Amino acid sequence: MITLVAVCGSRRGRSHTRKSLERVLTTARREGVETELLDLGAVDLPLYHPDVDEQGDSARLKQLVRDAEAVVIGSPVYHGSYSSTFRNFHDYCSKEEYRDTAVGLVATAGGGSYGPALEHLRSTVRGVYGHTVPEQVGIRRASEKYDGDTLTDVDIERRLDELAAAVVAEARRLHPEAVE
Ligand SMILES: Cc1cc2nc3c(=O)[nH]c(=O)nc-3n(C[C@H](O)[C@H](O)[C@H](O)COP(=O)(O)O)c2cc1C
Repeated sequence: MITLVAVCGSRRGRSHTRKSLERVLTTARREGVETELLDLGAVDLPLYHPDVDEQGDSARLKQLVRDAEAVVIGSPVYHGSYSSTFRNFHDYCSKEEYRDTAVGLVATAGGGSYGPALEHLRSTVRGVYGHTVPEQVGIRRASEKYDGDTLTDVDIERRLDELAAAVVAEARRLHPEAVE
């Protein structure tokens, strides 16, 4: 069976990025795939150190991504790019984790600009040979799109659903052996 892991690059308790990824996971489950949320705010992952192979939960988390046929990465926009929380996890990763993996991207901005963050994520994933789908979701002025924990923007809902479908389809194309 296809497994999709969503990696959340926000540590905020009521993260809009995490909520958006939960929508992607719910949609993916309806498509018949197994899902898991990797919440980087809820794991032990010290700052990457090149002289140390593994730290904290790094080996387990890398295995999670390595075993997945599909990954959706979500990050808040920090200073015009993606978050250091995601980058720190990514520095532990390599082609071993992402080769032949279908990847989807979500960026959540407090203001109006998410384009550079999505571009930076796209080139970062290319560096580890992930297959990023052309669909992507940028959310501007995120706090206006959520009423508490509830997403209230139907256009963003639709785009998150399309992203989930595209990543699952790409994972099935790359991994016919995992299709039941
Ligand atoms: C350190 C930091 C830098 C930020 N930089 C930007 C920025 O450059 N552009 C922007 O639109 N929002 C910026 N924001 C706002 C976040 O993108 C926004 O609050 C986002 O929705 C947070 O996502 P989350 O709810 O998943 O944590 C920044 C927030 C923080 C904490």
